[in-house]
Order: sequence, then structure tokens, then C-alpha cells
Amino acid sequence: MYALALKCRNCGAEYELAPFYVCRKCLGPLEVKYSYEELKLDKKELTNRVKSIWRYRELLPINEPLKFLHMDAGFTPLRRAMRLAEILGLKKLYIKDDTVNPTGSFKDRPASIAVCKSIEFEFKAVGCASTGNLAAATASYAAKAGIPCYVFIPSDLEMGKILQIASYNPVVIAVKDTYDIVNRLATQISELHNIAVVNVNLRPYYVEGSKTPAFEVCEQLEWTTPDYFIIPMGSGALLCAINRGLKEMEVLDLMRNDVKLVGVQPEGCSPIVSAFKKGMDDIVPIEKPNTIVKSLAIGDPADGAYALKALRESGGFAEAVNDEETLDGMRLLAKTEGILTEPAGGVAIASLKKLVEDGSILPSETVVCYITGSGLKTLEVLERGIKPIIVEPDLNSILELLGGGKYGGG
Ligand SMILES: Cc1ncc(COP(=O)(O)O)c(C=O)c1O
Ligand SMILES: [Zn+2]
Repeated sequence: MYALALKCRNCGAEYELAPFYVCRKCLGPLEVKYSYEELKLDKKELTNRVKSIWRYRELLPINEPLKFLHMDAGFTPLRRAMRLAEILGLKKLYIKDDTVNPTGSFKDRPASIAVCKSIEFEFKAVGCASTGNLAAATASYAAKAGIPCYVFIPSDLEMGKILQIASYNPVVIAVKDTYDIVNRLATQISELHNIAVVNVNLRPYYVEGSKTPAFEVCEQLEWTTPDYFIIPMGSGALLCAINRGLKEMEVLDLMRNDVKLVGVQPEGCSPIVSAFKKGMDDIVPIEKPNTIVKSLAIGDPADGAYALKALRESGGFAEAVNDEETLDGMRLLAKTEGILTEPAGGVAIASLKKLVEDGSILPSETVVCYITGSGLKTLEVLERGIKPIIVEPDLNSILELLGGGKYGGG
């Protein structure tokens, strides 16, 4: 294993690789430190490896990937989006399609690392605080591992997500409040009980799984990088992890990192975007998020300040769109590229549209848009605009509908 220690993101203090997540000196968050000097990755050799997150196992903080837990998360397709690019006025647009992950979102990546790590640390139970997708992924891997799972979610999530989560048979604790309150309660539980709450006490390990789309995109673009990488933000952890992954590819001499990051949020909960646009360094939390994009409804983003810094350092942008624009973004992606996204992906597509229209992103620039979750989980948000045409079981009435006249009549 190339992971050496846990290191404080604020003061640099180092600790052993244990289930800690805050620095004992300054209370800053901890991250995994690796020995990059000893690590060599060979581009040719990489191509023969497994097509999952374990392809880049040297950059993950796991002693031994547990084979029985493998569900092939990661190494998802990078799809060239020709029809959507034409409509948006771009030459080269790619969709990094994480709708195809085992539980339908990118959260399979961090959850599989965290559940693996919880077994290494000999926890007897796992859990998470979640806006939906992490709960499904954690519960799924816990089911596969045969360990008890406790998930904490806001009670007003989409019914499709709640049913998906419950199907893996965890204990579902649906709290009548916002994600931020849910997260606070889950943090307190992790202090009182010996549970690996994957995005709390295993957070430094958990977030490492979210670096992997950066490695994959570089490899899929034959070790070149796009000009822009569009990433939906909730807590900001995903954007920070992708930033870290891109930097690691450069440190390991696999490519030059000149990617500009674009972080996007729904207008009804956009604390990171607001701080970016106002030129502030501190995030002002939103007390009551109000948006259909429930997976991104995190009012007090744990990694907000780090995400803000990463966006600025990369020379990128932050953008927000309203719920109508989000729905239009979801429909546009579905009808041009055949990919059904949940609202988070609608935010990404609608924000990209806005940034091309206002000239921030130029037609000649290459864009990767990260679609982080499947629309099959959130069909109810599309219900309003969709009305199937109901007909009698009669061929002529169908032909009439198709504008073809009477059967036999030509
Ligand atoms: C589909 C989807 N996309 C993006 C995100 C944002 O991730 P983060 O909270 O790490 O910023 C989430 C978070 O739950 C999500 O579910
Ligand atoms: Zn510290």
C-alpha cells in the first residue's frame, strides 16, 4: 500500500492510518498521504487491468481490495455527445456517465472504498448520512458484506430513492429535517456507537473513491485532459476529490493538468456558487434549501471552502440554475444522447448551456460533463411534463395518430 499516513488539510500534522477524521491540534479535516516518489504507473500496463475503481488501486487507501465485495463500480463510459454538442454550440463534448454504476450513482465509488475500509478496521456495523445516493450505495455494499447498516436521510427524499435504499434492508432513519441536521445527528451517533459512518469517521478514506473519475477521464482521453470538467456540488467533496485525482495524475507524470473546474449547484441551494460569484472566501450556509435537486440540497457544505479554492486555482467557474432550467437540462440530455439523469445532472447540463451562451466557455474548448446519478431514481420530478397518448386497441386510430390515414388506404 502506498498510503502512508493521515495528514491535516489545515496544519499538516500527521497521524497513523486509523479511523480518525479531525486533527487533534487544529480540528481541521484529515486526508490520506501517499508516497508518490515510490509509485510508478505504466500507461500500457494500466490498459490490461480490471475495468473498475480498482484499476488505480495504488492510489486508494486499501490494504487488499476485498474480492467478495466487488460490484465493478467505476470505469464508467466517457461518451462523445455529438447531438448535444451541436445544440449547445460546442465542438467536443463528453459525458462521463456514472448512471451505469451498480446502484445508479457515483457514490458506489466512495462507498465501496469505505465499506472495504470499515472491514479492515473491524467495525461491526456501517452507516452514513445521505441525501439519497450514498445511502443506497452504502446499504448495497453492506448487504453484500453481510454487515448491519444504519442510514440517516432527510424524510422528504424522492420516493424512488427511499424505496431503493430500503430494498437493501438497512435500518433507515428518516429524519424530519434538512440534510445538515441529519448529518449532525449521524456524527453524534458515530461518537456514541461503534459504527463506521462512512462519510463521517471514515471520511478521509471514503473521499478517495471519488478521485477515480479523474483518472478514468484522463485515460479515456488518451492521457490528454479536457479544458473544462463540470461537476455538481453538494458538500463540495466530489469536486475536491476530482481536483486531487487530476493533481495526482500530474505528479505521477501521466499528463499535464491544465483542467479548469466548473462547480455547479441548484439556485435553491447554492452557497458555494454564491461565495464564488461574490469573491468571498467564506461560505454563508443556507438554512432551508429549497430545490427539486435533493441530492445537492446541502446548506452547510463541509468541503465548501476547499471547493471554492480549487475552483479559483484552476481558473474555472461556478454556476447555478433554477429548477425549471434543471428539468430542461434533464430532458435535453435524454432526448439528444439517450441518457436519463437525475436532477444533479440536469443542473450540470443547464449550467453548461448557460456558460456557453454567455461566452464563458468557447465553442472550440473541450468539455467533460459529469453525470453523477441515474434519472430512474427520480422519475417523479419528470411526471408533470409527461403524458402518454392513450388509445383504443385499434390499428386505424394509431395510424391516424401517426398521420398515416386508414389501414389499407395507403
Ligand atoms: C448525484 C449526485 N451528484 C453530486 C453530488 C455532490 O457530491 P458532494 O456532496 O461530494 O459535493 C451528490 C451528493 O450526494 C449526488 O448525490
Ligand atoms: Zn491540523
